[in-house]
Amino acid sequence: MNILILGGGGREHALAWAVAQNPKCDRLIVAPGNAGIAEIADCARLDINDGGAVAEFAGENGIDFVIVGPEAPLAAGVSDRLREAGFLVFGPSRAAAALEASKAFTKEICDACGAPTAAWARFTDPEAARAHIRAEGAPIVVKADGLAAGKGVIVAETTEEALAAIDEMFGGAFGDAGAEVVIEEFMGGEEASFFVLSDGDTVLPLGTAQDHKRIGEGDTGPNTGGMGAYSPAPVMTDAVTARALDEIVRPTIDEMKRRGTPFQGVLFAGLMIENGAPRLLEYNVRFGDPECQALMMRLGAQALDLMQAAAEGRLSEMQVNWADDHAMCVVMAAKGYPGGYAKGTGIGGLDALPEDSHRMMFHAGTAEEGGRVVAAGGRVLGATGRGASLRAARDAAYALVDAVDWPDGVCRRDIGWRALGK
Ligand code: AMP
Ligand code: GLY
Repeated sequence: MNILILGGGGREHALAWAVAQNPKCDRLIVAPGNAGIAEIADCARLDINDGGAVAEFAGENGIDFVIVGPEAPLAAGVSDRLREAGFLVFGPSRAAAALEASKAFTKEICDACGAPTAAWARFTDPEAARAHIRAEGAPIVVKADGLAAGKGVIVAETTEEALAAIDEMFGGAFGDAGAEVVIEEFMGGEEASFFVLSDGDTVLPLGTAQDHKRIGEGDTGPNTGGMGAYSPAPVMTDAVTARALDEIVRPTIDEMKRRGTPFQGVLFAGLMIENGAPRLLEYNVRFGDPECQALMMRLGAQALDLMQAAAEGRLSEMQVNWADDHAMCVVMAAKGYPGGYAKGTGIGGLDALPEDSHRMMFHAGTAEEGGRVVAAGGRVLGATGRGASLRAARDAAYALVDAVDWPDGVCRRDIGWRALGK
Protein backbone atom coordinates (compact mmCIF):
# COMPACT_ATOMS: atom_id res chain seq x y z
CA MET A 1 0.00 0.00 0.00
CA ASN A 2 1.33 3.46 -0.97
CA ILE A 3 0.51 5.97 1.72
CA LEU A 4 0.55 9.77 1.77
CA ILE A 5 0.50 11.62 5.10
CA LEU A 6 -0.28 15.35 5.04
CA GLY A 7 1.56 17.51 7.58
CA GLY A 8 5.03 18.13 8.90
CA GLY A 9 4.92 18.35 12.68
CA GLY A 10 5.68 16.03 15.56
CA ARG A 11 2.23 14.48 15.18
CA GLU A 12 2.98 13.52 11.59
CA HIS A 13 6.43 12.14 12.46
CA ALA A 14 4.77 9.90 15.03
CA LEU A 15 2.08 8.82 12.55
CA ALA A 16 4.74 8.10 9.92
CA TRP A 17 6.83 6.17 12.43
CA ALA A 18 3.88 3.94 13.37
CA VAL A 19 2.64 3.48 9.79
CA ALA A 20 6.12 2.63 8.46
CA GLN A 21 6.35 -0.29 10.90
CA ASN A 22 3.32 -1.97 9.36
CA PRO A 23 4.30 -4.56 6.72
CA LYS A 24 1.35 -3.36 4.61
CA CYS A 25 3.14 -0.07 4.01
CA ASP A 26 5.10 -0.26 0.73
CA ARG A 27 5.86 3.38 0.07
CA LEU A 28 5.39 6.30 2.43
CA ILE A 29 5.35 9.95 1.35
CA VAL A 30 4.86 12.82 3.79
CA ALA A 31 4.09 16.36 2.64
CA PRO A 32 5.81 18.56 3.62
CA GLY A 33 7.49 16.42 6.32
CA ASN A 34 10.58 17.55 8.27
CA ALA A 35 14.17 16.46 8.86
CA GLY A 36 13.20 13.52 11.10
CA ILE A 37 10.45 12.28 8.80
CA ALA A 38 12.92 12.39 5.88
CA GLU A 39 14.79 9.51 7.53
CA ILE A 40 11.83 7.13 7.28
CA ALA A 41 9.78 8.47 4.36
CA ASP A 42 10.00 10.51 1.17
CA CYS A 43 9.15 14.15 1.79
CA ALA A 44 7.31 16.16 -0.86
CA ARG A 45 6.66 19.84 -1.32
CA LEU A 46 2.95 20.37 -1.80
CA ASP A 47 0.30 22.90 -0.80
CA ILE A 48 -1.58 20.55 1.51
CA ASN A 49 -4.55 22.92 1.80
CA ASP A 50 -5.18 22.75 -1.94
CA GLY A 51 -7.35 19.67 -2.52
CA GLY A 52 -6.85 19.73 -6.28
CA ALA A 53 -3.06 19.80 -5.94
CA VAL A 54 -3.10 16.97 -3.37
CA ALA A 55 -5.39 14.81 -5.57
CA GLU A 56 -3.14 15.37 -8.57
CA PHE A 57 -0.04 14.49 -6.57
CA ALA A 58 -1.71 11.37 -5.16
CA GLY A 59 -2.67 10.25 -8.67
CA GLU A 60 0.82 10.78 -10.06
CA ASN A 61 2.39 8.84 -7.21
CA GLY A 62 0.03 5.85 -7.16
CA ILE A 63 -1.21 6.64 -3.65
CA ASP A 64 -3.72 4.17 -2.16
CA PHE A 65 -4.41 5.87 1.17
CA VAL A 66 -4.15 9.46 2.40
CA ILE A 67 -3.91 10.28 6.11
CA VAL A 68 -4.62 13.92 6.94
CA GLY A 69 -2.69 15.17 10.00
CA PRO A 70 -3.65 18.81 10.74
CA GLU A 71 -7.02 20.57 10.86
CA ALA A 72 -6.41 23.20 8.16
CA PRO A 73 -6.68 20.84 5.15
CA LEU A 74 -9.74 19.19 6.72
CA ALA A 75 -11.47 22.55 7.21
CA ALA A 76 -10.51 23.43 3.63
CA GLY A 77 -12.28 20.33 2.28
CA VAL A 78 -9.19 18.46 1.12
CA SER A 79 -10.60 15.07 2.14
CA ASP A 80 -13.82 15.73 0.19
CA ARG A 81 -11.82 16.56 -2.93
CA LEU A 82 -9.71 13.41 -2.52
CA ARG A 83 -12.77 11.20 -2.02
CA GLU A 84 -14.42 12.68 -5.11
CA ALA A 85 -11.27 11.71 -7.00
CA GLY A 86 -11.64 8.13 -5.71
CA PHE A 87 -8.94 8.04 -3.00
CA LEU A 88 -9.28 6.32 0.35
CA VAL A 89 -8.86 9.01 3.04
CA PHE A 90 -8.52 9.09 6.82
CA GLY A 91 -10.02 12.38 7.97
CA PRO A 92 -13.45 13.99 8.10
CA SER A 93 -15.25 15.92 5.38
CA ARG A 94 -15.31 19.69 5.51
CA ALA A 95 -18.86 19.56 6.88
CA ALA A 96 -17.86 17.23 9.73
CA ALA A 97 -14.66 19.22 10.40
CA ALA A 98 -16.94 22.03 11.58
CA LEU A 99 -16.78 20.25 14.94
CA GLU A 100 -13.39 21.92 15.27
CA ALA A 101 -13.68 24.82 12.83
CA SER A 102 -16.70 26.39 14.56
CA LYS A 103 -17.17 26.44 18.30
CA ALA A 104 -20.78 27.61 17.89
CA PHE A 105 -21.51 24.62 15.62
CA THR A 106 -20.15 22.24 18.28
CA LYS A 107 -22.30 23.89 20.91
CA GLU A 108 -25.39 23.45 18.73
CA ILE A 109 -24.57 19.78 18.25
CA CYS A 110 -24.16 19.37 22.03
CA ASP A 111 -27.53 21.00 22.61
CA ALA A 112 -29.16 18.84 19.93
CA CYS A 113 -27.80 15.56 21.34
CA GLY A 114 -27.83 16.46 25.04
CA ALA A 115 -24.04 16.24 25.54
CA PRO A 116 -22.99 18.00 28.76
CA THR A 117 -20.90 21.12 28.15
CA ALA A 118 -20.59 24.66 29.55
CA ALA A 119 -23.62 26.94 29.21
CA TRP A 120 -23.00 29.29 26.30
CA ALA A 121 -24.19 32.13 24.13
CA ARG A 122 -22.97 33.48 20.75
CA PHE A 123 -22.56 37.10 19.75
CA THR A 124 -21.83 39.08 16.61
CA ASP A 125 -22.58 42.37 18.38
CA PRO A 126 -19.95 43.59 20.89
CA GLU A 127 -22.46 45.58 22.96
CA ALA A 128 -24.67 42.53 23.48
CA ALA A 129 -21.58 40.49 24.39
CA ARG A 130 -20.54 43.09 26.98
CA ALA A 131 -24.02 43.15 28.50
CA HIS A 132 -23.97 39.35 28.78
CA ILE A 133 -20.59 39.42 30.55
CA ARG A 134 -21.81 42.09 33.00
CA ALA A 135 -24.90 40.05 33.75
CA GLU A 136 -23.04 36.73 34.26
CA GLY A 137 -19.93 38.02 36.06
CA ALA A 138 -16.53 36.29 36.31
CA PRO A 139 -14.90 33.84 36.00
CA ILE A 140 -16.11 33.51 32.43
CA VAL A 141 -14.62 32.25 29.15
CA VAL A 142 -14.49 34.22 25.88
CA LYS A 143 -13.74 32.38 22.62
CA ALA A 144 -13.26 33.44 19.01
CA ASP A 145 -15.64 31.25 17.01
CA GLY A 146 -13.29 30.13 14.24
CA LEU A 147 -9.86 28.48 14.00
CA ALA A 148 -7.31 30.62 15.84
CA ALA A 149 -4.41 28.16 16.22
CA GLY A 150 -5.38 27.40 19.81
CA LYS A 151 -4.99 31.02 20.86
CA GLY A 152 -8.56 32.32 20.55
CA VAL A 153 -9.65 31.38 24.08
CA ILE A 154 -9.50 33.71 27.05
CA VAL A 155 -10.31 32.34 30.49
CA ALA A 156 -11.14 35.61 32.26
CA GLU A 157 -10.84 35.75 36.04
CA THR A 158 -12.43 39.21 36.20
CA THR A 159 -15.20 41.01 34.32
CA GLU A 160 -12.67 43.63 33.15
CA GLU A 161 -10.50 40.94 31.58
CA ALA A 162 -13.52 39.49 29.78
CA LEU A 163 -14.58 42.91 28.49
CA ALA A 164 -11.03 43.52 27.25
CA ALA A 165 -11.17 40.18 25.40
CA ILE A 166 -14.34 41.33 23.65
CA ASP A 167 -12.62 44.54 22.51
CA GLU A 168 -9.65 42.53 21.29
CA MET A 169 -11.71 39.97 19.36
CA PHE A 170 -14.11 42.40 17.72
CA GLY A 171 -11.09 44.64 17.09
CA GLY A 172 -9.81 41.98 14.69
CA ALA A 173 -7.02 40.43 16.79
CA PHE A 174 -8.01 36.99 15.46
CA GLY A 175 -9.10 38.10 12.00
CA ASP A 176 -12.27 36.44 10.70
CA ALA A 177 -12.09 33.83 13.50
CA GLY A 178 -13.18 36.59 15.92
CA ALA A 179 -16.09 37.99 13.90
CA GLU A 180 -18.35 35.85 16.06
CA VAL A 181 -17.65 35.26 19.72
CA VAL A 182 -18.82 32.47 22.02
CA ILE A 183 -19.09 33.25 25.74
CA GLU A 184 -19.10 30.28 28.08
CA GLU A 185 -19.63 29.40 31.68
CA PHE A 186 -16.29 28.68 33.42
CA MET A 187 -15.90 24.97 34.25
CA GLY A 188 -13.68 23.79 37.07
CA GLY A 189 -12.02 20.36 37.26
CA GLU A 190 -9.18 18.44 35.60
CA GLU A 191 -8.68 18.35 31.84
CA ALA A 192 -8.08 15.25 29.75
CA SER A 193 -7.97 14.39 26.06
CA PHE A 194 -10.05 11.46 24.82
CA PHE A 195 -9.46 10.04 21.34
CA VAL A 196 -11.92 7.87 19.44
CA LEU A 197 -11.95 6.61 15.89
CA SER A 198 -15.16 6.64 13.90
CA ASP A 199 -16.15 5.44 10.46
CA GLY A 200 -19.29 7.55 10.66
CA ASP A 201 -21.23 4.86 12.46
CA THR A 202 -19.09 2.76 14.81
CA VAL A 203 -17.13 4.47 17.59
CA LEU A 204 -13.89 2.82 18.74
CA PRO A 205 -12.20 4.34 21.81
CA LEU A 206 -8.52 4.72 21.01
CA GLY A 207 -6.95 6.15 24.12
CA THR A 208 -6.59 8.99 26.58
CA ALA A 209 -3.88 11.55 27.25
CA GLN A 210 -3.11 14.67 29.21
CA ASP A 211 -1.47 17.70 27.63
CA HIS A 212 0.44 20.59 29.23
CA LYS A 213 -0.69 23.72 27.43
CA ARG A 214 1.20 26.40 29.34
CA ILE A 215 4.81 27.28 28.56
CA GLY A 216 5.93 27.43 32.18
CA GLU A 217 6.51 24.81 34.87
CA GLY A 218 3.62 24.35 37.26
CA ASP A 219 1.26 25.22 34.36
CA THR A 220 2.07 28.94 34.36
CA GLY A 221 2.57 31.53 31.63
CA PRO A 222 1.00 31.81 28.19
CA ASN A 223 -0.73 28.99 26.29
CA THR A 224 1.16 27.05 23.64
CA GLY A 225 0.27 24.29 21.19
CA GLY A 226 1.23 21.83 23.95
CA MET A 227 4.53 21.33 25.81
CA GLY A 228 4.22 17.68 26.75
CA ALA A 229 1.72 14.87 27.05
CA TYR A 230 1.36 11.45 28.52
CA SER A 231 -0.95 8.53 27.90
CA PRO A 232 -3.04 7.12 29.47
CA ALA A 233 -4.58 9.91 31.61
CA PRO A 234 -5.22 8.62 35.16
CA VAL A 235 -8.29 10.88 35.53
CA MET A 236 -9.93 8.93 32.69
CA THR A 237 -10.91 5.93 34.79
CA ASP A 238 -13.05 3.21 33.20
CA ALA A 239 -16.14 4.81 34.71
CA VAL A 240 -15.34 8.32 33.42
CA THR A 241 -14.41 6.92 30.00
CA ALA A 242 -17.71 5.03 29.79
CA ARG A 243 -19.63 8.19 30.67
CA ALA A 244 -17.68 10.27 28.13
CA LEU A 245 -18.53 7.70 25.45
CA ASP A 246 -22.19 7.29 26.33
CA GLU A 247 -23.03 10.89 27.19
CA ILE A 248 -20.81 12.91 24.83
CA VAL A 249 -19.01 11.13 22.00
CA ARG A 250 -21.57 8.55 20.79
CA PRO A 251 -24.44 11.06 20.83
CA THR A 252 -22.26 13.44 18.77
CA ILE A 253 -21.38 10.80 16.18
CA ASP A 254 -25.06 9.78 15.98
CA GLU A 255 -26.17 13.39 15.56
CA MET A 256 -23.63 13.99 12.77
CA LYS A 257 -24.86 10.86 11.00
CA ARG A 258 -28.50 11.92 11.42
CA ARG A 259 -27.68 15.27 9.77
CA GLY A 260 -26.20 13.54 6.75
CA THR A 261 -22.65 14.68 7.58
CA PRO A 262 -21.14 11.57 9.21
CA PHE A 263 -17.81 11.99 11.00
CA GLN A 264 -15.02 9.73 9.76
CA GLY A 265 -11.55 10.01 11.25
CA VAL A 266 -10.24 10.63 14.74
CA LEU A 267 -12.39 12.71 17.07
CA PHE A 268 -10.43 14.31 19.91
CA ALA A 269 -12.67 15.35 22.77
CA GLY A 270 -11.16 17.87 25.18
CA LEU A 271 -12.93 17.09 28.45
CA MET A 272 -13.22 18.74 31.84
CA ILE A 273 -13.76 16.19 34.60
CA GLU A 274 -15.24 17.25 37.90
CA ASN A 275 -16.41 14.80 40.57
CA GLY A 276 -16.27 11.94 38.08
CA ALA A 277 -18.52 13.71 35.58
CA PRO A 278 -17.05 14.61 32.15
CA ARG A 279 -18.16 17.71 30.25
CA LEU A 280 -17.04 18.73 26.78
CA LEU A 281 -14.59 21.63 26.44
CA GLU A 282 -14.07 21.33 22.71
CA TYR A 283 -13.67 18.91 19.85
CA ASN A 284 -10.75 18.62 17.49
CA VAL A 285 -11.08 16.59 14.31
CA ARG A 286 -7.50 15.29 14.23
CA PHE A 287 -4.91 13.86 16.60
CA GLY A 288 -3.51 16.19 19.24
CA ASP A 289 0.10 17.30 19.04
CA PRO A 290 1.95 16.19 21.27
CA GLU A 291 -0.72 13.70 22.44
CA CYS A 292 -0.32 11.77 19.17
CA GLN A 293 3.36 11.11 19.85
CA ALA A 294 2.50 9.38 23.13
CA LEU A 295 -0.43 7.48 21.59
CA MET A 296 1.52 6.26 18.55
CA MET A 297 4.38 5.10 20.73
CA ARG A 298 1.88 2.84 22.52
CA LEU A 299 -0.08 1.73 19.44
CA GLY A 300 2.74 1.08 16.95
CA ALA A 301 1.97 -0.61 13.62
CA GLN A 302 -1.70 -1.38 14.37
CA ALA A 303 -2.40 2.36 14.01
CA LEU A 304 -2.40 1.90 10.22
CA ASP A 305 -4.89 -1.00 10.34
CA LEU A 306 -7.18 1.04 12.58
CA MET A 307 -7.08 4.19 10.44
CA GLN A 308 -7.63 2.13 7.29
CA ALA A 309 -10.63 0.38 8.86
CA ALA A 310 -12.10 3.78 9.83
CA ALA A 311 -11.66 5.00 6.24
CA GLU A 312 -13.21 1.82 4.80
CA GLY A 313 -16.20 1.72 7.18
CA ARG A 314 -15.03 -1.49 8.87
CA LEU A 315 -14.39 -0.29 12.41
CA SER A 316 -16.93 -2.71 13.88
CA GLU A 317 -14.49 -5.53 12.99
CA MET A 318 -11.61 -3.94 14.87
CA GLN A 319 -10.27 -3.80 18.37
CA VAL A 320 -7.36 -1.90 19.87
CA ASN A 321 -4.66 -4.12 21.36
CA TRP A 322 -3.24 -2.18 24.25
CA ALA A 323 -0.20 -3.24 26.17
CA ASP A 324 -0.44 -2.27 29.82
CA ASP A 325 2.05 0.54 29.33
CA HIS A 326 2.58 4.30 29.52
CA ALA A 327 4.15 6.85 27.20
CA MET A 328 5.27 10.45 27.61
CA CYS A 329 6.32 13.09 25.11
CA VAL A 330 8.36 16.10 26.29
CA VAL A 331 8.41 18.96 23.80
CA MET A 332 11.64 20.86 23.19
CA ALA A 333 10.95 24.36 21.89
CA ALA A 334 13.05 27.22 20.56
CA LYS A 335 13.86 29.75 23.31
CA GLY A 336 11.26 32.52 23.25
CA TYR A 337 8.34 30.34 22.05
CA PRO A 338 5.35 30.99 22.10
CA GLY A 339 6.60 34.54 21.51
CA GLY A 340 9.35 35.39 19.05
CA TYR A 341 12.19 32.87 18.62
CA ALA A 342 15.26 32.32 16.45
CA LYS A 343 15.25 29.92 13.52
CA GLY A 344 18.24 28.10 12.09
CA THR A 345 20.00 27.23 15.36
CA GLY A 346 21.96 23.98 15.11
CA ILE A 347 20.90 20.82 16.97
CA GLY A 348 23.58 18.25 17.77
CA GLY A 349 23.55 14.73 19.14
CA LEU A 350 20.51 13.51 17.21
CA ASP A 351 22.37 10.82 15.24
CA ALA A 352 23.67 9.10 18.35
CA LEU A 353 20.33 8.83 20.18
CA PRO A 354 19.42 5.32 21.31
CA GLU A 355 16.07 5.06 19.49
CA ASP A 356 13.87 1.96 19.50
CA SER A 357 10.28 0.89 20.17
CA HIS A 358 10.47 2.52 23.63
CA ARG A 359 12.39 5.71 22.87
CA MET A 360 11.94 8.06 19.94
CA MET A 361 12.87 11.64 19.27
CA PHE A 362 10.06 12.85 17.05
CA HIS A 363 10.84 15.94 15.01
CA ALA A 364 8.44 18.88 14.66
CA GLY A 365 9.92 22.15 13.36
CA THR A 366 13.24 20.87 12.04
CA ALA A 367 14.99 21.16 8.70
CA GLU A 368 18.21 19.88 7.22
CA GLU A 369 20.70 22.54 6.26
CA GLY A 370 24.12 21.71 4.88
CA GLY A 371 24.11 18.22 6.37
CA ARG A 372 23.01 19.22 9.88
CA VAL A 373 19.64 19.51 11.56
CA VAL A 374 18.50 23.03 12.48
CA ALA A 375 15.45 24.41 14.28
CA ALA A 376 12.80 25.65 11.87
CA GLY A 377 9.81 26.32 14.11
CA GLY A 378 8.61 27.04 17.65
CA ARG A 379 8.04 23.49 18.81
CA VAL A 380 11.03 21.60 17.46
CA LEU A 381 11.45 18.13 19.00
CA GLY A 382 9.29 15.68 20.97
CA ALA A 383 11.32 13.35 23.18
CA THR A 384 9.05 10.35 23.64
CA GLY A 385 9.52 7.43 26.00
CA ARG A 386 7.49 4.36 26.84
CA GLY A 387 7.61 2.10 29.89
CA ALA A 388 5.74 -0.13 32.29
CA SER A 389 4.97 2.89 34.47
CA LEU A 390 4.54 6.60 33.83
CA ARG A 391 7.73 7.19 35.82
CA ALA A 392 9.68 4.85 33.52
CA ALA A 393 8.21 6.57 30.46
CA ARG A 394 9.20 9.95 31.87
CA ASP A 395 12.76 8.81 32.62
CA ALA A 396 13.12 7.48 29.07
CA ALA A 397 11.82 10.74 27.57
CA TYR A 398 14.09 12.99 29.66
CA ALA A 399 17.11 10.77 28.92
CA LEU A 400 16.57 11.63 25.26
CA VAL A 401 16.21 15.34 26.09
CA ASP A 402 19.51 15.23 28.01
CA ALA A 403 21.33 13.52 25.15
CA VAL A 404 20.54 16.34 22.72
CA ASP A 405 22.99 19.20 22.30
CA TRP A 406 20.86 22.24 21.54
CA PRO A 407 21.81 25.33 23.58
CA ASP A 408 18.94 27.32 22.03
CA GLY A 409 16.27 24.81 23.05
CA VAL A 410 14.13 24.71 26.20
CA CYS A 411 11.65 22.29 27.70
CA ARG A 412 9.51 21.96 30.80
CA ARG A 413 11.12 19.70 33.37
CA ASP A 414 7.83 18.85 35.08
CA ILE A 415 5.77 17.04 32.44
CA GLY A 416 3.51 14.60 34.27
CA TRP A 417 3.59 16.51 37.57
CA ARG A 418 -0.10 16.10 38.26
CA ALA A 419 0.16 12.33 38.03
CA LEU A 420 3.65 11.89 39.49
CA GLY A 421 4.12 14.74 41.92
CA LYS A 422 7.16 16.97 41.54
P1 AMP B 1 -10.24 25.25 23.91
O1 AMP B 1 -9.35 25.70 22.78
O2 AMP B 1 -11.68 25.51 23.71
O3 AMP B 1 -9.93 23.86 24.38
O4 AMP B 1 -9.78 26.12 25.14
C1 AMP B 1 -8.41 26.22 25.51
C2 AMP B 1 -8.28 26.02 27.00
O5 AMP B 1 -9.06 26.98 27.70
C3 AMP B 1 -8.83 24.69 27.46
O6 AMP B 1 -7.86 23.70 27.31
C4 AMP B 1 -9.18 24.99 28.90
O7 AMP B 1 -8.02 24.93 29.71
C5 AMP B 1 -9.65 26.40 28.85
N1 AMP B 1 -11.12 26.47 28.73
C6 AMP B 1 -11.85 26.52 27.61
N2 AMP B 1 -13.16 26.57 27.88
C7 AMP B 1 -13.29 26.56 29.22
C8 AMP B 1 -14.40 26.60 30.11
N3 AMP B 1 -15.66 26.69 29.69
N4 AMP B 1 -14.13 26.56 31.44
C9 AMP B 1 -12.85 26.48 31.89
N5 AMP B 1 -11.77 26.45 31.10
C10 AMP B 1 -11.96 26.50 29.77
N1 GLY C 1 -2.17 19.55 22.08
C1 GLY C 1 -3.42 20.11 21.82
C2 GLY C 1 -3.85 20.06 20.44
O1 GLY C 1 -3.26 19.42 19.58
O2 GLY C 1 -4.87 20.67 20.13
